[in-house]
Amino acid sequence: MCGIIGYVGKKTAAPILIDSLKKLEYRGYDSAGICVLNDSLQLQTYKTTGKIADLELVLPRNVGGTIGIGHTRWATHGQPNTENSHPHLSGDIAVVHNGIIENYLEIKEKLIECGYVFKSETDTEVIAHLLHSHLYSNNSGVNSCNSGSQSKKCDLMTAVQGTLRALEGSYAIAVLCSSEPDVMIIARKDSPLVVGIGNGEIFAASDVTAFLKNTTNVVYVDDNEIGLIRGGNVEFFDTDGNKVIKETTTIEWDIEAAEKAGYEHFMLKEIHEQASSVYDTFAGKISELDGTVNLDELNLSDEQIRHLTRIEIIACGTSWNAGLLGKYLFAQLADIHTDVDTGSEFRYGYPVMCGEVLTIAITQSGETADTLAAVRSAKSYGCRAIAITNVVGSTITREIDSVLYTRAGPEIGVAATKSFTAQLITLYMLALHFGRVRGKISAEDSKNLLVALKNIPADIQKILNKKSIIQKCARQFANSSDYFFIGRHLNYPIALEGALKLKEISYIHAEGYAAGELKHGPLALLINKTPVVAIATKGHTYDKILSNIKEVKARDAVVIAVADEDDTEIEKYVDVVLRVPRSHVLLSPILSSVVLQLLAYYTALERGCSIDKPRNLAKSVTVE
Ligand code: F6R
Repeated sequence: MCGIIGYVGKKTAAPILIDSLKKLEYRGYDSAGICVLNDSLQLQTYKTTGKIADLELVLPRNVGGTIGIGHTRWATHGQPNTENSHPHLSGDIAVVHNGIIENYLEIKEKLIECGYVFKSETDTEVIAHLLHSHLYSNNSGVNSCNSGSQSKKCDLMTAVQGTLRALEGSYAIAVLCSSEPDVMIIARKDSPLVVGIGNGEIFAASDVTAFLKNTTNVVYVDDNEIGLIRGGNVEFFDTDGNKVIKETTTIEWDIEAAEKAGYEHFMLKEIHEQASSVYDTFAGKISELDGTVNLDELNLSDEQIRHLTRIEIIACGTSWNAGLLGKYLFAQLADIHTDVDTGSEFRYGYPVMCGEVLTIAITQSGETADTLAAVRSAKSYGCRAIAITNVVGSTITREIDSVLYTRAGPEIGVAATKSFTAQLITLYMLALHFGRVRGKISAEDSKNLLVALKNIPADIQKILNKKSIIQKCARQFANSSDYFFIGRHLNYPIALEGALKLKEISYIHAEGYAAGELKHGPLALLINKTPVVAIATKGHTYDKILSNIKEVKARDAVVIAVADEDDTEIEKYVDVVLRVPRSHVLLSPILSSVVLQLLAYYTALERGCSIDKPRNLAKSVTVE
């Protein structure tokens, strides 16, 4: 789970690499490094633990060279320290890598037998030495990593091809070799890699945000492809050396969209963006006049939709919480039974996939390893699979039958916010569409729901306008050691998501429960003044949640209710009320989730936490 960058051009590489790594820091930030080929054709490597700002401190001024690679790390093999940080070197070769080499121990043993000396505990270092062993015929004396006396047996490209054939696992790599000073080689398998085509310069990175300020013309590298970058050009080959013709796409996000726009944190910016991002998600897809949703990109005929017997949702984390809400929507609006599995459970869970099952993968990044593996497994049963994702060109989009893009724009804060509400909106549209096709929801009911959906951006804005009330509440309970979130039916996934947000950015222990489950155990945990957030917007379970609120109040807990703006009854039973505009009963969870995002944000702010980059977490979990 790391970010890689490569630059080949006419400008000085080091500042470009540093700048790009800062954009990639969300992918990992425990150590970082760069390697450039200087004007005397020597590899110069600078590494450090910590963030990119720490790397800048160890970087001498005027590091020359116009070709270089860089890496920001989130440790998987070996501690976050300087030795383990990338780039890894073997003689005249330098490599950066994102992914996991599963058979690295086996390869390492063989390389050690050949005389290679390992300096790190990483799986990546085997790539560097293996490449070296493919490139040079005389492997003795490599301990000194001095390839000067050795004769080359092939060119770098051939050595990379040979190396990749031996690797099992996932990788996106960028390779430099001082004996082929004008060349950089990149390759991918199961880890994201994208190439930016600039004016006489080429970038290769884990994510377009790394180079977006330099170019918007990109080529997405697919699995088992190798790119040869030289002299402002890039050519692609498969692992057997056959040329592959690739399409160049123009990215429409501008760099402004990927920066903080004046907010203290990306997370706060992204919470605010929801007033418009949810609109982008449904724009052009809904018609409240006739109560229809247009999802042509699904490529599912009405016949196929009518014959569905089950939906299987696969997702992780926040996306899983969105999936759980989807389950309730598919039941209520379309009369389809849905199971919701985490990627990591589904892939090892012997699923029963008979009947007309539609698999829906929900993933903001489109790169989550467990989700990808689970979807591959689901597809192996022959069922149709679609993805709900935010990242155009991500791995999932290339492996799936059809894609619904959430169009939330780049999300940099590690804690998912706008991508979650965009996933919810997409699920509402999908369930409504299925419900209409299957004749389970009337045109009238559908129109009402769509009219309310169109109001959601304005409703979110109203919440944002009154965020100081939420901030005050967050301050009041910021020193709590535990928090509970409860909800019923559609508000249950929102309770789970509220708890997840709070724990990941404020480090307060938080639990989300189906409110009816409290008495089956968790009530024992409630002690005097434990804050319990009850999502208590109006709906068919409103009276039930009121009973649950009374239950917890009787144990001296403090209750913070999320309730409709016109609900005057709730005030009698709770300590604090956080209001949401009155909306359609089915849609209020979207609004409640924004309230809970702000509650988590301001709690973390009060506690001085690293909000955009919480400890131990990374934005995109591309390893199992
Ligand atoms: C929480 C969060 C994670 C992700 C999870 C799945 O705020 O962001 O729980 O939701 O890692 O990521 P995607 O949606 O990219 O598959």
